[in-house]
Amino acid sequence: MSRPIAILGGTGPAGLGLALRWTRAGETVIIGSRDAKRAQEAGARIAATVGPEAKIRGNENSAACAAADVCVLTVPFDGQAELLKQLKTAFKPGTVLIDATVPLAATVGGRPSRVLGVWQGSAAQQSAELVPRGVAVAAAFHNISADLLNGDGPIDCDVIVCSDDDHARTVASELAHKLPGVRAIDGGKLENARIVEQITALLIGLNIRYQAHGTGIRITGLPDRQSGLGSARNILGSAHKILREQDAPSG
Ligand SMILES: NC(=O)c1ccc[n+]([C@@H]2O[C@H](COP(=O)([O-])OP(=O)(O)OC[C@H]3O[C@@H](n4cnc5c(N)ncnc54)[C@H](OP(=O)(O)O)[C@@H]3O)[C@@H](O)[C@H]2O)c1
Repeated sequence: MSRPIAILGGTGPAGLGLALRWTRAGETVIIGSRDAKRAQEAGARIAATVGPEAKIRGNENSAACAAADVCVLTVPFDGQAELLKQLKTAFKPGTVLIDATVPLAATVGGRPSRVLGVWQGSAAQQSAELVPRGVAVAAAFHNISADLLNGDGPIDCDVIVCSDDDHARTVASELAHKLPGVRAIDGGKLENARIVEQITALLIGLNIRYQAHGTGIRITGLPDRQSGLGSARNILGSAHKILREQDAPSG
């Protein structure tokens, strides 16, 4: 993907972890923040970790949003609506917004293992209501632990992608597949984000109960074709292998 990915609210653990992994994968990343300097410092830290080939910078959220075709939203639920209202004029038509927001009760002083009821059904559906026409929303990355994202190893987790827009689903799935170990699963319509968001609260409860840091989810029993781009890539990989074998000199 050559277009920049803006991570709005990218200075927290979730945004930084995604930024680190996508920068390592060769993507161009813009960290967004309410404070341009904080974003630049975060970008510089990731660049120092990844090395001279890193294509990452930081900027204030609306400037980051305006410079990207793909935006990923990683803010606490209590800041989501206000930020999206501020960004209304910054979004370019055709932008894909990938929402990772979980409406945890902790954002309003409640338990981290509980979710708030959202009038629209889910945080992602609230986003879809607030973005300007022409911006497509996908929900993804809710169940992935920031601790694992910020590490070096593969990530043992599926990413369930929900969207009413095929292009947004494809973009989010492609980005999920750029995270080592991760498989994207087509979770159907955006309204299913409600279920996926709630799973995060369950995982936080499990982390507390088992004193774990990186619980995640894996969906079992899917036929290979159901796992979307991963299987498409496998098919392409097999086709290339067959072609290579055919081209190889015999004897
Ligand atoms: N942490 C995880 O493991 C994880 C995993 C999956 C999904 N999530 C979800 O992803 C989102 C981000 O998680 P996080 O742990 O990274 O959160 P966080 O650290 O609490 O917040 C992320 C960033 O959002 C910005 N922010 C905070 N309050 C804001 C407000 N009122 N308005 C606008 N921006 C605000 C801050 O950046 P600036 O001050 O620089 O603007 C902050 O660094 C949450 O909705 C969370 O539920 C988290």
